[in-house]
Amino acid sequence: MQPQKSVIAGLVVALAAATSLTVGASASATPTPERSSAKAATPGVPAPNRAKVARPGVRADPTLKTLRQLGDRAGLRIGAAINLDALADDATYRYLAATEFSSVTPENAMKWDAIEPRQGEYNYAPAEELIRFAKANRQIVRGHTLVWHSQVPTWVTEGNFTSAELREILRRHIRTEMSQFRGNITEWDVVNEAFNEDGTLRDSLWLQKLGPGYIEDAFRYAHSIDPKAKLFYNDYNIEGVNPKSNAVYNLLRRLRAEGVPVQGVGLQSHFDIQYNYPPDILANMQRFAALGVNVSVTEADVRMDLPVDPTKLQAQAGAYDALLSSCLLVKRCKNFTFWGISDQYSWIPGVFEGQGAALLWDDDYQTKPAYDSIRRLLAVAGSNRPKIS
Ligand code: G3I
Repeated sequence: MQPQKSVIAGLVVALAAATSLTVGASASATPTPERSSAKAATPGVPAPNRAKVARPGVRADPTLKTLRQLGDRAGLRIGAAINLDALADDATYRYLAATEFSSVTPENAMKWDAIEPRQGEYNYAPAEELIRFAKANRQIVRGHTLVWHSQVPTWVTEGNFTSAELREILRRHIRTEMSQFRGNITEWDVVNEAFNEDGTLRDSLWLQKLGPGYIEDAFRYAHSIDPKAKLFYNDYNIEGVNPKSNAVYNLLRRLRAEGVPVQGVGLQSHFDIQYNYPPDILANMQRFAALGVNVSVTEADVRMDLPVDPTKLQAQAGAYDALLSSCLLVKRCKNFTFWGISDQYSWIPGVFEGQGAALLWDDDYQTKPAYDSIRRLLAVAGSNRPKIS
């Protein structure tokens, strides 16, 4: 294990020294059209909703760089989960999605219940729209997700299939979906959330009917369909060292030793300021990287009890910083994805009553302190990290 606190402290000291020189002064405004208008003419991106993002009284600084630009210099893709309805209906959302991010993940559009809600009835259009958007804006797409216990359509869960039938249904699902999007997906979350907190396997339909081997079967099968895609195991509460992340680590170590094609681990990173973030994120990322797999932050958000206040927002910035600074110190951490853009579309209030404000932009597209500190950290990392290949 590395002495991660001192390493992070070093980065933060460097950050403090370099911040004003590297990034420029106030970064508090939402990236305004004034600031970014020269670069806003990306093909496929409509003019932003100026009225909505303009912030009277804040002078836009034309030298400010976007998260995406800073991430490119640091060799780190900056991603966002994309809500396809918002992308279609909200010009500000679309503008930020295009300009601030170099990686996009469909929040729901590639899940099984969205892709094949009824047996043999496929709905690829929303996901195809995101792929078009990504191409127009020179972004990569993370595929999410093929094998999960949730958002599986009822024709699968209630079909009373035999084990042999279910195995074939799962294979067909992987084959049809991956074939449809082949060549357009850089990283696939093949297996999602297969473990319990104590490190035992989740008692899902897949475990019950197919046994624990369903995980390696899914990776082998996925690789045979799209050998160029990087295949990930993705889960939450595996950001630090704990029984669950130990179990994922042991699984990936075994699969790698057996030649099973798994090339990445996704640390979802759904944090809450009322719980301390794990103290050993860096050590955890490093041990995964030492297995030879990429480490991606796949679903970052940091929620809080509402209403928001300045102290909570600082705590949020601190949690994001801990995650990002660890990622920046690990070469194999090449994608840092937020689970959304604006709080107004976040999943949090619908699931955690009384909580929210988890993302970098609030309901009115004002940035939070976390946005500024993330930009500063990325700027400090600069070009010391390897460039995106
Ligand atoms: O598809 C129906 C649609 O037909 C209907 O009109 C609409 C009415 O509310 O509901 C739609 O389904 C919703 C779906 O999002 C698409 O909007 C579901 O009710 C809702 O539960 C679902 O929530 C998603 C959740 O996964 C499902 O488990 C969230 O948006 C999404 O952010 C969340 O993402 C997960 C990751 O995939 C895995 N890791 C955890 C993360 C947060 O839970």
